[in-house]
Amino acid sequence: MELIPLGEALGIEVRGVDLSAPVDAAAAAALNRAFVEGVVICLRDQSLDPPSFLRTAALFGTPFAQIYGQFNHDDYPEIGVLTHRDTDSAGTGERKIRGTSWHTDASYFERPPKATMLYAEIVPEEGGDTQFVNMRAAYAALPDAVRSRIDRRTALHVYQSSRSPRQLIKRSGDQVDRFGDGRHHPLVRTHPDTGQKALYLNPIRMECIDGIPREESDRLLDFLHDHVTQSRFEYRHKWRAGDVLMWDNRSALHQANDDYDWQNQSRRLLRIMLEGEIPA
Ligand code: SIN
Repeated sequence: MELIPLGEALGIEVRGVDLSAPVDAAAAAALNRAFVEGVVICLRDQSLDPPSFLRTAALFGTPFAQIYGQFNHDDYPEIGVLTHRDTDSAGTGERKIRGTSWHTDASYFERPPKATMLYAEIVPEEGGDTQFVNMRAAYAALPDAVRSRIDRRTALHVYQSSRSPRQLIKRSGDQVDRFGDGRHHPLVRTHPDTGQKALYLNPIRMECIDGIPREESDRLLDFLHDHVTQSRFEYRHKWRAGDVLMWDNRSALHQANDDYDWQNQSRRLLRIMLEGEIPA
C-alpha cells in the first residue's frame, strides 16, 4: 500500500488496494489510519458494485439508511445516488444539485455521520469537482483570543438554517419525524481517535452560537466562515470515474460544484454515510 498526499492542506491518495477483493485486517487498519490522518482519502481506479461498495464502507464503520429516501438506490437503502438530474421531488420539483455550498453532513442529528463516502460511476469531462477544507488546521491557525472565545461554546444546528446560502431539499413529514431537528453541538470538537481539536461549523445548518446576542453570533460565524474557507486550508478533488473518496465529517467541510454542462454530460456517484458519535 502506498500513501501519497493529495494536497498541501489535506488528503491522502491510497494506492495498491483493490476494493473489489477481500481486504485483510492489516490493510483495513492501515486504511483507517490513513483516513484519520488525511481527513480525506481517495482510492482511484476501483471497480465496485453496490455490495462491494457497502463492504468497503464496513471496513471503516457502520453504514445507515440515507436521509432522503427518494434518492436511495432501489435495492440498498444505505446507498444514496447523486446525479446531474436530481430534483426536489418533495418540494418544487426543480432540478436540485445537493451539496453546492460549504457544509458538513447532517449536523442536525444527535450523532452526525462520522464519514461520507462517494464512489464515482460517471463524471463530466470538465467541472463537478468537490472541495474540502481542513477544520483541524483552520482551528489551529486561529488567534488565541478567538480560540478562547469559542472553546467552550455550543451552537444550535437545525435542518435548514436561516443563514444558509441555499435552499435545501424539502423533507417529507416522515423524514422530519425520523430525523428530527435542533441539536446543540460544541463549536470546537475533539477527534475521538486523535484527540485533535477542529472547528465544527455548518453554514447551512448552524442557526446561532448559544449564550451570546444574535448579532454577535452572526458576526462571529461570518468571521469563522471566512477564516476556514481560505484556500490555504483547501483541497479540490477532480473526479475520475472509479474514484472511491471518503471524508471525515468531524474534521472537514465540503462543497459540490454544479458548474458542468449537465445537459450533455452526466455525473453519477453512489454515496454512503457512516454512523457517528455525539460531538464532544
Ligand atoms: C455531497 O455534498 O455529499 C455531494 C458532494 C458532491 O456531489 O460532490
